[in-house]
Order: sequence, then C-alpha cells, then structure tokens
Amino acid sequence: MRSLIDVVDFSVEEINELIKTALDIQKNPDMYSESCKGKLLATLFFEPSTRTRLSFETAMLRLGGSVIGFSSASSSSASKGESVADTAKVISEYADIIAMRHYKEGAPLVASENASIPVINAGDGGHCHPTQTLADLLTIYRRHGRFDDITVGFCGDLKFGRTVHSLISALSRYKGVKIVLISPKELKLPEYVIKNVIEKSGLSYVETDSLEEYMSELDVLYMTRVQGERFEDKAEYERLKDSYILTPDKIVTAKSDMTIMHPLPRVNELSVKIDTDSRACYFMQVESGKLMRMALIIKLLKEAKDKNPERRLLNPELVADKFKCKNPACITSTEQEIIHYFKEVDGEYHCAYCDAKI
Ligand code: CP
Repeated sequence: MRSLIDVVDFSVEEINELIKTALDIQKNPDMYSESCKGKLLATLFFEPSTRTRLSFETAMLRLGGSVIGFSSASSSSASKGESVADTAKVISEYADIIAMRHYKEGAPLVASENASIPVINAGDGGHCHPTQTLADLLTIYRRHGRFDDITVGFCGDLKFGRTVHSLISALSRYKGVKIVLISPKELKLPEYVIKNVIEKSGLSYVETDSLEEYMSELDVLYMTRVQGERFEDKAEYERLKDSYILTPDKIVTAKSDMTIMHPLPRVNELSVKIDTDSRACYFMQVESGKLMRMALIIKLLKEAKDKNPERRLLNPELVADKFKCKNPACITSTEQEIIHYFKEVDGEYHCAYCDAKI
C-alpha cells in the first residue's frame, strides 16, 4: 500500500507528474469534480491546523468525495490512551485514505504500517511536512519554472521547522541548488538533516545568523515562525521569537523576482507590509497546497485501486530492536509494544521514525 510519509517516498518523476496534474486541475477544475466520487477521506489531526486540514478537506470535496475526521487529540479516543496503530486499523474499516497530523515524530509512519489504506503525513512534530513541501515546490515552479540552479534562503526556526526539513530533502535531488541557512545558533538545522540530507547529496550550503548577508543572491526567501509549541523552556522561546522580522527595508537589495515564501501561520516574523510586494507568494502557496493535495489524493487512491491491498512494509535493511530511541518527541516513546527500527547511515544508527541519532 502506497503512502506519503516523507517527501522522498516519491521520485522526482512522480513529483513532476503531481505538478502537471495540479496545474491541469487549476485550469480545468470541472474535469476533476467527480474524480473521487464515493471515496472517503479521514482527517486525523492530533495537533492544531488551519491550512493543512481544511485544504485536505477542500481537496476531497472538490474531487467529489466525502470527509470524516477530528481536529484535536482531545476529541478522539487518543485521550483515553488509544494507540496510533489501533487508530489506523479502526479508520481503515471506515475510510479510503487517511491524512494524519500528530505531535509525535514518526506517528504517521506507525499509522502507515498498521493501516490497510494509504496514509498521508500531514506533519509529525518537528520532523517532516511533505504535503507542505508539495505546495512549496508547485509555488517555486509557478514562479521560476524550474528547481535546478536556484538559491533558497531559509530563515528563522530551522531546528523545529518541519517544513524546512522536508523542502531541503526535496531540493537535495536537483542540480545546482544552493541553500542559505539563516538562524540564531539555538535554532540551527538539526545535525541529521545536515549530515544525512545535505552533505550526502552534495547540496551546496552556508550557515549565517544575518538575514541581509546573502539577500541579493536569493531566488527564494523562505521565512518561518519560531515554533513556540516545541520549546521545553518557554523563556528561551520568548528570547528567540523575534530573532528575524521581515520588513520592506530588509529586502531593498533583493532580486526583483525573488519569491518570498512562508508556510503560515505567521506571528511577528513577516510584516503585513510585505503582503503588497509583488514578490510575496505565501497566499499563492496556500492555493498550491490545495491543488497538490487534490493531485496527491487522486494518485494515492488510484494506486490503492490498481494494486492488491497490503500493509506498508518498512525497508528490510532496517535494524530491529537493537537500541531504544531517546528522543522524547519520538512516537516510540509512547506507542505500546512498538518495534524500534533503526537505519545505518555511514556507521551511525538513526531512529527510523524520527531520524534522531542514537
Ligand atoms: N502550513 C501549515 O501547516 O499550516 P497549518 O498548521 O495551519 O496546517
């Protein structure tokens, strides 16, 4: 059974195909209005969301399908202690496809191992957000017509910003991409992304704490919110939350066709004064998200119909139960009787659910 847990679950060719479908949906929405007639999407959101949940629901309704779901852990039986694995097995008896957001890293992967229907990761803790990346890729394509040879600056909370981790993974597969990582030292990109994604793929990168230093070189500036909900120390969040605030004076040296992106929601880091600048594309990202989620639902439901239903199998090269993941944000810290899987990368072991190094 095909699911989307990490953006690299799909090949570059498959992503190009999704982009083609999304652009066709934009041009000919009526042609797709019954593509998912009779199908049911379950949106299982254990963490708050506006865009992702409602764009999934909009996508399914615009395709002629129906939607069930919940929008918080407290309104589901997770509040009584039900596991993610059992939830996935139960929902497989009701729906045809699941979109899951969870505060624990790796929870959608656990769901996909236990569901008999496709599972889409709609954001897992500070780890990944592959469907936001699909929205981001479509936006970059609509603006620049390519992914090769672009320079992308990521600014803000690169530690907990799951959209950043997923977009860097996606960009690591194109040629000539340069990334500029702009953050305070406390919110730098996690080591596993630098080592296992950036250095492994040979992606060119620099790290800086200055928003202005590389501004004139950027084709894309990707702003992010400091993720207050992921900080253990709230005083540290208060100290860091306004590290960068994008205002018109900060982009005077930027290219005239630079694309300003933000996955939203924004707090202080992106002034509303930027909204009228022709380079502001964060509301285009929202539209791209709906279109790509429509294309994704069509693809996964088609593949589920074409193939024999079988549960997702983890990579057979993974090592089982040799260690325990120590990341308290990992789903293995709470899920009952889970097998702890690890992958070996250059002699180091990383949790298969959250990517933390052992
Ligand atoms: N971009 C994004 O994931 O927004 P929501 O948290 O509102 O879904």
